[in-house]
Amino acid sequence: MRVTVIGTGYVGLPTGVGLAELGNDVICLDVDEKKINSLKEGKLTIFEEGLDSLFEKHSKSGKIKFSTSFSESIPEADLVILAVGTPPHPITKEADMRYIKQASEELAKYLSGYTVVAIKSTVPVNTGDMVENLIRKTNPSAEFDVISLPEFLREGFAVQDFFNPDRIVVGANSERAKALIADLYLPFKDRCPILYVKRQSSETIKYASNAFLAMKIQYINEMADFCETSGADVYEVARGMGMDSRIGAKFLVPGPGYGGFCFPKDTNAMAYMGKFNGVDLSLIEATIKGNEKRKINMAKRILDMVEDVKNPTVAVLGSAFKGGTDDCRESPALQIIEIMLAHDVNIKLYDPEAMGNTKAILGDMVTYCNSSYEAIGGADVLAVLTDWEEFKSLELEKIKQLMKRPQIADYRNVFDFNKAKELGFDIRSLGRI
Ligand code: UDX
Repeated sequence: MRVTVIGTGYVGLPTGVGLAELGNDVICLDVDEKKINSLKEGKLTIFEEGLDSLFEKHSKSGKIKFSTSFSESIPEADLVILAVGTPPHPITKEADMRYIKQASEELAKYLSGYTVVAIKSTVPVNTGDMVENLIRKTNPSAEFDVISLPEFLREGFAVQDFFNPDRIVVGANSERAKALIADLYLPFKDRCPILYVKRQSSETIKYASNAFLAMKIQYINEMADFCETSGADVYEVARGMGMDSRIGAKFLVPGPGYGGFCFPKDTNAMAYMGKFNGVDLSLIEATIKGNEKRKINMAKRILDMVEDVKNPTVAVLGSAFKGGTDDCRESPALQIIEIMLAHDVNIKLYDPEAMGNTKAILGDMVTYCNSSYEAIGGADVLAVLTDWEEFKSLELEKIKQLMKRPQIADYRNVFDFNKAKELGFDIRSLGRI
């Protein structure tokens, strides 16, 4: 099948590469010339585990091509996937549909023969209708169907998730479009359920799922706070809860708050849609509020640890919003760092992949280090803010020698809590004392 993917970000690029691996002829289209030139030169523009080898393989085989030209990329396509950004509006927090509208109008001009236009970007319910109308208005004779094809890829695991989805959701109101998608996903036929639903249901499934997962995280974070006052251990509590198959073990890991480009944006957009439709979505609103407060609370806890220190230094491990990605968008780590900076704390920072993106945001406000141990040297507190695997192999004995004061704020549970205590660390974990 000939597939054109519009948008080469964290969704578009892994999707394009994954579809090429499945045997399709893919064109990744983006209006950003710099990005496309870099991709044409064989340089990936994002970090995503396992993406580089597949990208190289299919750039060489010619199964994946890159372009900035709609006129060259659209007419031949059987399927056009919209994977452009839908960033939150700065005031209302509703999803900004500018890029969806621009891409829809532009692609409409070049449609030729029957084409399915699939919306993969996370978009408000009824966007399918809007895109359909835009295309029809721009090109009344076009033969096309618009479907919703939400993505559930996690950053850092996008390639793994692409090939091992829990489910594929297709929101299609036409049998012809369903048949084309069934053909595209034939390799997944016996691997996962493919759910065909109304377009509006599919659009809602994406928001409802992300809001639910965000709520689950906020719930375990609240339980962590409770455990700190009751003497329970939240990791034991989460294990016990997760064994109930109705609850499930995943997304019960306490942390400094959820971040990234999806959960904050999608919970806000869902809350906005609720308000707009006159529906009380108070659980989602409480989740958003609780998550905001949490990041401030996490920073305050570190500030308390250096209250008595003049000109304190905090070693921060991790600035990405989670391990396995270089993405710092809405990263709780960056928000916590900003608060510490506002309280005149010196920050020595190390992140295995996100240093470039961090520098673009924080500039020279922090000291960038080449390794965890370099960041830790001379620090009054070590704060672990991102769950990178490599932090788990750091040696506590060595850390103790390097630090000015043996204090750790381990917000990602990377250290052996009891061992750290035995070694004389003042270690503050989440959800246990
Ligand atoms: C999310 C959804 O999981 C994915 O299905 C959707 O397509 C895009 O949004 P992603 O943003 O990549 O994926 O990150 P995810 O792994 O879900 O984590 C989001 C945030 O929640 C991170 O800040 C992470 O650290 C935090 N988190 C996650 C927790 O604090 N505890 C958990 O148990 C799980």
